Amino acid sequence: LADPRLQGISDAIRVVPHFPKPGIMFNDITTLLLRPGVFKDAVDMFVERYRGTGIAAVAGIEARGFIFGPAIALAVGAKFIPLRKPKKLPGEVISETYVLEYGTDCLEMHVGAIPRERVLIVDDLVATGGTLCAAINLLGTYRIPFKYSRNFHLLRSSLY
Ligand code: PRP
Repeated sequence: LADPRLQGISDAIRVVPHFPKPGIMFNDITTLLLRPGVFKDAVDMFVERYRGTGIAAVAGIEARGFIFGPAIALAVGAKFIPLRKPKKLPGEVISETYVLEYGTDCLEMHVGAIPRERVLIVDDLVATGGTLCAAINLLGTYRIPFKYSRNFHLLRSSLY
């Protein structure tokens, strides 16, 4: 049976048609954040899934992975690693460029944060999977050509 909290989480995410450009159905988690009980449900579901599984680090993808990631990290007793857009981190970084629908983007991580342990990657959603693949490559754990790995659970994908 599906967790009854999933329906509330799904209902709390606003879908905005044609944002930021025509044809895109934007899943807006800011409406979920306005409902503390549902926000807590979303965090709790990840914490329950990953507490005690040996997760040593949570890597949050800018920007919305920074909203959920730290809460999950604290609750499971893991460190938090921000994966940032270019030119935001002050120290030495490693970079991973990835292809978007139009153009390219890039994620960066401080060299000193390179984890040798199990890492949970957190973001708000997967669309093409390009961002997630870039994060996986950046963390250097896997080099995978496919779009989505069952090992990486994200907020929206957990609803299905
Ligand atoms: C969104 C979302 C994911 C990514 C998913 O971020 O938060 O990070 O797109 O898309 P993909 O699976 O096709 O790669 P966005 O690019 O809007 O950046 P932002 O969080 O900095 O606004």
